[in-house]
Amino acid sequence: MTFLFNSDAQRGAVFGEAFAHELPHLPFTIGPGTVAPADIRYIITWSVPEALERYRNLDILFSVGAGIDQFPLTAIPPGVKLVRMVEDGIIRMMQEYVTLAVLALHRNLPAYLDLQRRREWRALPQRQAADRRIGLLGLGVLGRAVLESLKPFGFRLSGWSRSGKTIEGVATFSGDAGLGRMLGETDILVCLLPLTAATRGILNRERLAQLPKGAALVHAGRGAQLDSLALLAALDAGQLAGAVIDVTEPEPPPSEHALWAHPKVLLTPHVASATQPDTAARAVIDNIKRYEAGLDLVGLVDRTRGY
Ligand code: NAP
Ligand code: GLV
Repeated sequence: MTFLFNSDAQRGAVFGEAFAHELPHLPFTIGPGTVAPADIRYIITWSVPEALERYRNLDILFSVGAGIDQFPLTAIPPGVKLVRMVEDGIIRMMQEYVTLAVLALHRNLPAYLDLQRRREWRALPQRQAADRRIGLLGLGVLGRAVLESLKPFGFRLSGWSRSGKTIEGVATFSGDAGLGRMLGETDILVCLLPLTAATRGILNRERLAQLPKGAALVHAGRGAQLDSLALLAALDAGQLAGAVIDVTEPEPPPSEHALWAHPKVLLTPHVASATQPDTAARAVIDNIKRYEAGLDLVGLVDRTRGY
């Protein structure tokens, strides 16, 4: 039974070395075609490999990424487990990105960049962190880690998730009514939700209007969660003061899209975070060891929830 690495060879080499050391009993191969499909027990891949039904002894499909919305769940046989990426490197990078974005918005960076372009030397009013309310959409692996990174700055923190949560130092909300309440008390909204039928288009005109006037958005979930025209209208109307956007639909946005040049928008090309091969190899190896020992898998996707 073999492990198939179905992604780029450079990362594959890092995985291969770690597997040889930690799981010497498990043959490891990079790219399909080198081993009979019936011999493959585990695959790591960014999206569903071609003709998945060939792998008739497949147990686990590991996603290279944290998000699994690119996997059509109905195309994966019910007996095959889908596991999203949970690993230290991707968590650390997301902590960096969201901290950078929240601080940029907190300290008026988009407005100062605009003033610089106009050659205007002028201080803007500055709120203290203790007066700034940060609201997280999504309290999963990434959302919770980001909250921990923001705690030392003294922001007022809140978060929203599907199921209720208790997190020290964080006001938590769930459900539709909870979302409305949190938005009404949020100055900087951070989206780290997975893309599902329930979260597609969640950042729409109505939701953005529920934020206090002058609020800001950090979007690092998935592009299809945001109505970018509603965002631009809210920015132009002064309802929102700024936005840091890492994900769009489509990616990249068309060259004439106003997101590219809007003075209140900082746009990055889906780089908030990325799977790091050394720590990811460690995480996948640990998961295979757990599986072989009959323990629960970390990051197992619940197909009924869609994440
Ligand atoms: P996760 O651990 O599965 O957490 C998802 C969180 O979202 C959970 O708290 C979940 O609630 C909540 N949620 C899901 N559906 C919801 C709904 N309908 N209403 C309210 N809350 C809902 O996921 P993660 O590892 O933190 O990753 C989150 C997402 O980040 C990924 O799916 C991916 O799209 C995105 N991402 C982006 C980048 C980038 O570079 N931009 C990089 C990595 C990941 P419960 O806790 O109640 O289940
Ligand atoms: C990147 O966006 C990921 O989901 O890992």
